[in-house]
Amino acid sequence: MQKLRWGILSTSRFARTKILPALRHAARVEVAAIASRDVERARRVAAEFAIPKAYGAYDELLADPDIDVIYNPAPNHLHVPWSIKALEAGKHVLCEKPIALSAAEARTLLDASRRHPRQKIMEAFMYRLHPQWRRAAAIVRGGGVGEPLAVQTLFSYVNEDPNNIRNQADIGGGALMDIGCYAISVARLVFGAEPHRALGRADIDPRFGTDRVISGLLDFGYTSWAPRVGSRSRSRSMRRPIGPAGSGTSAATTVTRSASKSAISTRSRATSCRARSSRTPRCRHRSRTRSPTCASSTPWSRAPARARGSTSRRSRRDVPD
Ligand SMILES: NC(=O)c1ccc[n+]([C@@H]2O[C@H](COP(=O)([O-])OP(=O)(O)OC[C@H]3O[C@@H](n4cnc5c(N)ncnc54)[C@H](OP(=O)(O)O)[C@@H]3O)[C@@H](O)[C@H]2O)c1
Repeated sequence: MQKLRWGILSTSRFARTKILPALRHAARVEVAAIASRDVERARRVAAEFAIPKAYGAYDELLADPDIDVIYNPAPNHLHVPWSIKALEAGKHVLCEKPIALSAAEARTLLDASRRHPRQKIMEAFMYRLHPQWRRAAAIVRGGGVGEPLAVQTLFSYVNEDPNNIRNQADIGGGALMDIGCYAISVARLVFGAEPHRALGRADIDPRFGTDRVISGLLDFGYTSWAPRVGSRSRSRSMRRPIGPAGSGTSAATTVTRSASKSAISTRSRATSCRARSSRTPRCRHRSRTRSPTCASSTPWSRAPARARGSTSRRSRRDVPD
């Protein structure tokens, strides 16, 4: 069987800890080369993963005629420029999320991909290919939960490392780009549509100039969507994760059918109101006046446990730490 020859663009942590180990198990993939801004770093990672070629510049990787696919896990501001260069070099591209930093940038990439119709390009939202999510999406599409009216998402983690790419505003850092994109993506998946209006409010970290908490509302026409995501939080309750520090978050996804309407709630364990309310006696989400973005205001949370009758599953997902 002929294998696709992959080239890895940068020695990103996610590539080293997740993608490269996983690709070892892919029957039709051969990791043929890796590139870094620093050739010694490329050589070190190449040796660790038995990758035959190591380059000291991204251009050198693209110029290699024996590479079919480029995996692009560079910082967010390099997703579009290097993905376009890869397409122009005749390579297919798997680009990390978020694929672009703005609609205008995404359009530039789209135009480039249309100029190179033989090459495929895909954003690495791996959750969409996970069997649990595929099943959940199929249930929704098949009417299994009735008509979806709202998607509410909470997603957060703590990361205060000034050297981390997520805390660098000029290279595409910030909560919206790092994990808010999941909230947007999952709403688009559930509704099978694009929002036509958006409203947002960002809390900017004075140290890094990045959005550390961002709340938003997307209007899909017949309903609304209210995510709240953050990479750090000033509130005590959100700063204290339920899991061990630095362990990331587990996503808990619930597809629910209630008597009058249905809701899908995607919530991170670290910020789950339900989890928090059992550990934090003064959890603000227990007050009578609930925030419209609070997951505990969903029908799912209000329904008595035995009436939920829903499929509730927890799965670990990889989040940056
Ligand atoms: N799909 C997922 O589940 C998932 C999970 C985690 C991360 N990601 C995405 O993967 C990407 C990388 O994340 P990561 O956590 O692996 O980041 P990271 O460890 O900081 O890796 C980024 C790499 O980009 C290269 N780079 C080029 N220009 C840089 C610059 N100006 N500053 C810093 N690094 C630069 C560096 O490699 P060289 O020095 O070798 O060139 C660096 O190792 C992000 O887009 C993130 O959103 C996706």
